Amino acid sequence: MPHDAALTIRRATRDDLDLVAALYEQLVEDQVARGWTGRPTPAEESRRYIARRLHRADVHYLVASAAGAPIGFVEGALLLPREQLPVRLFRRLFPDQNPRAALGYIHNIFVTADGRGAGVGSRLLREAITALKAQGIRRLRAHVIPGNEASFGLFAKAGLLPTQTAVEGEV
Ligand SMILES: CC(C)(COP(=O)(O)OP(=O)(O)OC[C@H]1O[C@@H](n2cnc3c(N)ncnc32)[C@H](O)[C@@H]1OP(=O)(O)O)[C@@H](O)C(=O)NCCC(=O)NCCS
Repeated sequence: MPHDAALTIRRATRDDLDLVAALYEQLVEDQVARGWTGRPTPAEESRRYIARRLHRADVHYLVASAAGAPIGFVEGALLLPREQLPVRLFRRLFPDQNPRAALGYIHNIFVTADGRGAGVGSRLLREAITALKAQGIRRLRAHVIPGNEASFGLFAKAGLLPTQTAVEGEV
């Protein structure tokens, strides 16, 4: 896709369930092909997960389209305190921040294979960051599979750098 092809990014609504679920399936296939070690979520389960989250104010599903065709999506959300640090420790470390809204998480970001490398992922990420910042986040986190250089590059460009590396394998 050329850089100047008309690109629109909009917030998904309940009516976009089929569209988001189809993009999500492509993402799961992509991650499995990259050697993701997690359990691939069955399509029906992903669909229920998305349906539960599409209407939530603290979850942002944004869809990118070029010439009217969907070519990517991002799912970003606020991380609640119990998912980050004990609230009392959080308050001590970050006294000026709201523990309900300080950390955002990019659960998923995906651009179709023929739409990549043209800035779509960056636009999606930027708009997700804007939406999350409007809800108070100061920091953003994501997980990336080792070797996924495009994803590391995308996040690095937005200022997200590798922190710790987990090691795991069958023993
Ligand atoms: C990761 C992904 C969303 C990036 O989307 P994209 O639209 O291609 O990204 P952009 O064109 O906006 O590129 C943003 C930056 O990422 C980096 N980047 C993108 N593709 C890259 C590649 N193949 N190799 C290395 N760096 C790359 C570059 O730094 C680029 O900035 P630049 O164009 O100024 O050099 C896309 O590759 C994708 O959907 N991959 C499969 C799904 C996936 O892995 N999602 C992430 C799960 S954590």
